[in-house]
Amino acid sequence: MDTFAAPAGGDPAGIQVIHPAARLRGEIGVPGDKSISHRALMLALLASGESRIHGAGDGDDVRTTAGIVQALGATVERVADDRRTVQYRIVSPGVDGIRGPVGVLDCGNSGTSLRLFAGILAGVPVTAVLDGDPSLRRRPVARIIEPLRVMGATLRAHDGDSLPPVTVTGRRPLRPIDWTTAVPSAQVKSAILLAGLRAGGTTRVRERVATRDHSERMLRARGVTVRSLPDGDGGVVIEIDGGAVVQAMEERVPGDPSAAAFWLVAAAIHPDAELVIRNVGVNPTRRAVIDLLARMGARIEERPLTGGGSRRPDDGIGEPVADLVVRTSDLQAVDIAPAEVAAAIDEIPILCLAATQARGRTTVRGAGELRHKESDRLAGIAAGLSALGARIAVDRENLTIDGPVRLTGAPVDSLDDHRLAMTFAIAGLIATGRTTVGRPESASISYPGFYTDLERIRP
Ligand code: S3P
Repeated sequence: MDTFAAPAGGDPAGIQVIHPAARLRGEIGVPGDKSISHRALMLALLASGESRIHGAGDGDDVRTTAGIVQALGATVERVADDRRTVQYRIVSPGVDGIRGPVGVLDCGNSGTSLRLFAGILAGVPVTAVLDGDPSLRRRPVARIIEPLRVMGATLRAHDGDSLPPVTVTGRRPLRPIDWTTAVPSAQVKSAILLAGLRAGGTTRVRERVATRDHSERMLRARGVTVRSLPDGDGGVVIEIDGGAVVQAMEERVPGDPSAAAFWLVAAAIHPDAELVIRNVGVNPTRRAVIDLLARMGARIEERPLTGGGSRRPDDGIGEPVADLVVRTSDLQAVDIAPAEVAAAIDEIPILCLAATQARGRTTVRGAGELRHKESDRLAGIAAGLSALGARIAVDRENLTIDGPVRLTGAPVDSLDDHRLAMTFAIAGLIATGRTTVGRPESASISYPGFYTDLERIRP
């Protein structure tokens, strides 16, 4: 299998040294959205014919998905788009062209690849093994195995069906289900919806807290009827009719708001900063980090892209996009409730850094899911920020952070987790002295070129 392997980023010696920056200025074009890039590649595999994806992220996780799409029978061509993104041209025989033997599919560090491909393969009569790196092998999979089994697929996993590798034997047609997710998870929802395409009837997923809705938007853009109905209680019911045909298309991926979040916080907490972040996705189910920072007092200006010139908002998939301008801000503490944690799940580490510079006590409640990400992020963020002098405490699934605190440069470990590596590197921009980030190359999972951008904005 061609894995589209990326060269490792960061410092070859395994640490990245960050010195404080006197000023932050400049424009940044963040990588294409990781969640959307994964889905664009997967849906291109399901569609028969040629799909083109512009502006895709080029992080290791997206390359992993591209490699699996190729292993499952599509022709995948990857060409540079611009400095930060790539274009894919995919020619696929369609979902019915997926043939065995498939063997082991290496999902690397990517939970999205593993869980969404499990949903796809549940409805295809082949046997495949979804495996990954040591971090992925610690991530829970019972949450996808249970619904996909009820739908009629056969799945087995390690350690009492709780951890990867996952062996999937698909079948068709699957049974439609009505499933309420136990934890808010776009990956679980998406796995069920993708399996629902192959079911004989209507599949329903009920979410108590709505999660990112890229799968729904992108399936609709490819001709599939997906209904999303508020449940009247803050949640949502999503319905998909089995048997729909996913059509090939051309689409454009917006910049990743989860990557933009690092620059939003960098400028907001730095005493002399103004940054412009171009072409950022501001989908209502992804923009919680922007709204939480604004609630803390961050000076963020949002300039919606309305068309004209070469920067087209017509991405083909109905994802709203804006340029963001962010300046030095005076931050106040905030209470982040469990539903907001779910909406900003990938941005909690960098929001914790913002909280160290905010006046008062910030609380993050109901953040237990962070223990099941690429690392135990609750432990990792607390260890790293305390090493820099932050006042941060973890109590079961809650965090409290007291600010503002002057951070002092120190060695910190990313735990090989991209979001922790980037959070600690941004902390180094305002900490006194020298911050060293251990295992910094993990940033390339979602943001190749992150450290180059970090240097570029310090004139
Ligand atoms: C993602 C969903 C989130 C998020 C991950 C990407 C997706 O995970 O943390 O980085 O693309 O669906 P969960 O849905 O498991 O919370």
